[in-house]
Amino acid sequence: MTTMETRSSTTLLLISLIFSFLSALIVPSTALGFTCKNTTTVACESLIDYIPPNDTTLASISSLFGVTNFYSLLGANFFSLSTPSSQPFAANDTIRIPFPCSCSNGSGISDKVPMYTIKSGDSLDYIATNVYARLVTYQEIALVNNISDPSLIKVGQNLWIPLPCSCDKVNGNPIVENQVVHYGHVVAKGSSVEQIAVEYGTDANTLLELNGISNANQLQAGQLLDVPLTVCDSVVGKDSEDYPLLVANGTYALTAYNCIQCKCQPNIYISNITMVLHCEPSEGVKPSNISQCPSMECPNSGLLIGQTSSNCMVCDYAGYVNTTILMSYDSFSASNCSVEQKKFGERKERRGDKIENQKRNYQNGSHGFAALVKGLAGGAEASKVAMMCFLASGREIGFDVPGFGGG
Ligand SMILES: *[C@@H]1O[C@H](CO)[C@@H](O)[C@H](O)[C@H]1NC(C)=O
Ligand SMILES: *[C@@H]1O[C@H](CO)[C@@H](O)[C@H](O)[C@H]1NC(C)=O
Ligand SMILES: *[C@@H]1O[C@H](CO)[C@@H](O)[C@H](O)[C@H]1NC(C)=O
Ligand SMILES: *[C@@H]1O[C@H](CO)[C@@H](O)[C@H](O)[C@H]1NC(C)=O
Ligand SMILES: *[C@@H]1O[C@H](CO)[C@@H](O)[C@H](O)[C@H]1NC(C)=O
Ligand SMILES: *[C@@H]1O[C@H](CO)[C@@H](O)[C@H](O)[C@H]1NC(C)=O
Ligand SMILES: *[C@@H]1O[C@H](CO)[C@@H](O)[C@H](O)[C@H]1NC(C)=O
Ligand SMILES: *[C@@H]1O[C@H](CO)[C@@H](O)[C@H](O)[C@H]1NC(C)=O
Ligand SMILES: *[C@@H]1O[C@H](CO)[C@@H](O)[C@H](O)[C@H]1NC(C)=O
Ligand SMILES: *[C@@H]1O[C@H](CO)[C@@H](O)[C@H](O)[C@H]1NC(C)=O
Repeated sequence: MTTMETRSSTTLLLISLIFSFLSALIVPSTALGFTCKNTTTVACESLIDYIPPNDTTLASISSLFGVTNFYSLLGANFFSLSTPSSQPFAANDTIRIPFPCSCSNGSGISDKVPMYTIKSGDSLDYIATNVYARLVTYQEIALVNNISDPSLIKVGQNLWIPLPCSCDKVNGNPIVENQVVHYGHVVAKGSSVEQIAVEYGTDANTLLELNGISNANQLQAGQLLDVPLTVCDSVVGKDSEDYPLLVANGTYALTAYNCIQCKCQPNIYISNITMVLHCEPSEGVKPSNISQCPSMECPNSGLLIGQTSSNCMVCDYAGYVNTTILMSYDSFSASNCSVEQKKFGERKERRGDKIENQKRNYQNGSHGFAALVKGLAGGAEASKVAMMCFLASGREIGFDVPGFGGG
């Protein structure tokens, strides 16, 4: 080896040493994900906002985030079950993405999804900033993929994108053992902690604490906030294959081979009413993994799951085991319960509208309210029929709004 060669290889070594030193600086051990102290290894369901930079379709969004059950994307956004995957989605609109979350070492990140295949011209920063709209940083992508030098990535290489999430319980809903669905909310311009808390049924202090924010004025547009969504109570038992069926406020889920649709929505505000899951056969959906849906009629009642009889008997979804759907048929005292069927007038509804609740005195006095349900539906103008039934205790036992939903 000549002196010249020795010198140049020393220089190379030096350069590469400096480079790896710089890379180490470039890839600091950033705090991954949201705080998650939960040590169970079972993944939980999470949600995150995505604001696509360009016009796209629901199919492209599903594929970008590795959403395997398209209905879970529809449910997360309360889009109608009949929405096709070719449905366009406009740039800069917000869509909620469902994904499995797992926790380790005090933080929660998406459980090995989404996977992104590097294309020609991509850089880690472009993928983090543009493709995934700043839901992650390039440092976080580098960290979980063991990439020490972000400039050394190859076309065709698969990257795990670590979306932030959590599986921790949050005080506030003791009925469902303080279970929540953590939702990564992208803060809109001009929004405040107080507004976000009201909008999602939590309180400002919980939000500040959960996100380690000491001063509410620090909130910035575009910031990702961990928002704990209330989940609906249900009668689904421990033996059921979909236990615990945790459906977040403002969403629905398909379960039991996609045969059952369970909606979690606020209905009426009497301060301490627990939100109760409303399940019914999922109309127009092809069952998955089985050729035909099992029976969904409560025995000897003529009532399908989700239906309430005129004397306030209710047929509830209680889970599924193997290929049998379980049901709970509750007979409530008719004297403590009434059903009202009311046709509401024409109203214009847009997706994202707030649900508006209106207490109405019940025809027969003492107990019961009818709720006027508005919004979270698609663009269609429609007259709604709401059928509600409340017990004196305040537990809603029936709730049906035919035609609710829409593209
Ligand atoms: C999306 O919003 C950004 C920032 O407000 C704007 O610069 C961009 O033009 C918008 N894109 C589209 C397609 O509307
Ligand atoms: C866990 O977190 C600690 C401190 O946050 C860090 O030093 C350690 O390297 C992490 N361990 C793993 C396996 O990521
Ligand atoms: C969005 O469209 C612009 C203009 O066509 C393009 O440069 C950019 O790469 C696109 N962004 C993504 C994430 O595809
Ligand atoms: C990164 O390296 C760690 C430790 O060597 C390993 O446990 C982990 O599976 C690797 N991750 C990936 C995505 O290759
Ligand atoms: C941990 O997460 C699991 C679901 O992944 C949940 O069932 C359990 O209740 C959680 N435990 C705590 C203490 O948050
Ligand atoms: C449910 O969500 C609605 C709309 O986002 C919100 O107004 C309400 O406070 C939430 N209710 C609960 C109990 O979380
Ligand atoms: C169908 O079966 C596959 C494989 O067992 C499972 O991963 C999937 O969740 C099932 N789908 C439904 C809707 O039950
Ligand atoms: C599930 O049902 C199938 C067909 O009815 C039956 O062969 C199988 O033994 C059942 N499995 C369990 C665990 O009950
Ligand atoms: C009606 O409800 C009240 C209070 O919940 C209860 O005390 C009463 O026994 C109920 N009446 C009937 C007939 O069930
Ligand atoms: C309510 O009142 C109407 C007429 O006043 C009566 O026909 C009906 O039976 C009452 N319903 C209940 C549940 O008491």
